[in-house]
Amino acid sequence: MVHTKFCDVFGVDHPIVQGGMQWVGRAELVSAVANAGGLGFLTALTQPTPEALADEIARCRELTDRPFGVNLTILPAINPPPYAEYRDVVIDAGVPVVETAGANPAEHLPAFRAAGVKVLHKCTSVRHAVKAQELGVDGVSIDGFECAGHPGEDDIGGLVLIPATADRVSVPIVASGGFADARGLVAALALGADGINMGTRFLATREAPVHDNVKRRLVDATELDTELIFRPLRNTARVASNAVSKEVVRILDEGGEFADVRELVAGVRGREVLRTGDLDDGIWTAGTVQGLIHDVPTVAELIERIVTEADALVRDRLTPALPCPQLR
Ligand SMILES: Cc1cc2nc3c(=O)[nH]c(=O)nc-3n(C[C@H](O)[C@H](O)[C@H](O)COP(=O)(O)O)c2cc1C
Repeated sequence: MVHTKFCDVFGVDHPIVQGGMQWVGRAELVSAVANAGGLGFLTALTQPTPEALADEIARCRELTDRPFGVNLTILPAINPPPYAEYRDVVIDAGVPVVETAGANPAEHLPAFRAAGVKVLHKCTSVRHAVKAQELGVDGVSIDGFECAGHPGEDDIGGLVLIPATADRVSVPIVASGGFADARGLVAALALGADGINMGTRFLATREAPVHDNVKRRLVDATELDTELIFRPLRNTARVASNAVSKEVVRILDEGGEFADVRELVAGVRGREVLRTGDLDDGIWTAGTVQGLIHDVPTVAELIERIVTEADALVRDRLTPALPCPQLR
């Protein structure tokens, strides 16, 4: 069974992470990941208030006695959410690990460190991973250009980004973006990572609290069915291809400004897509890994399949290919 330093540092059986997902990272999914031996993250900002996050953490604890974390996504906003209050809820509830994303987590690290909360920082470039390590995070999650959500502006795929990060960072590395199966896990380990993070693949599981139409679309879609919105604004996001995301790309490519697409990209519209299954109602997030998703398993089936097939892959494909007979 695959076991890495990620498992030791973060206290889980399998080096498989379910990253924060707005409107999706709720107790149903996160507890299922925890019960299957992975590391799931509740998404703090899915909860309307810090108090509601405290309730969601309590609800998750009713569904699992295994460790789970909270994702704190820090994004630029005119009226930012009360990040420090969300952070303090995580600490006060005794959550053992937090996934920070979106911005430099420096402001929050002293409080997390003082409380013994482990920090896994998710970023999209080697320089940000190095910086996060210097700041004292316990692990870095590195999102390649394939990923759902914000891939940054450098456009470096995982095949280069992961080993380039491994060359510069000594804390555990979680490879993210484009992972769905055992092939991805084994490849990530070969590239120097200590585990994988998945978003889109977990969206297409039975426990993901989204409409079945969304899951079916992920099964039907190919790797071509995403759009990169906000490119001209240098705030790129990879989202599912649909009438709305194509319209946003068109308007901005023709010189439009954020104000011209504000209504189209409203977060509540995206939330409604996931709730009602009306797939052309707004922007919803998905990655190129859709092309590798062919079913909607339970979380336990998915994680079990990945770790079992990873063993088989090493035994049946890699070991026989090694030139050294003693290693066979
Ligand atoms: C529906 C959805 C919502 C997401 N929301 C967030 C978020 O709020 N914060 C965050 O850090 N990452 C978010 N992500 C990104 C994932 O945590 C993860 O980094 C990404 O999905 C990895 O790429 P993959 O989809 O190819 O596995 C989201 C991804 C999806 C699919």
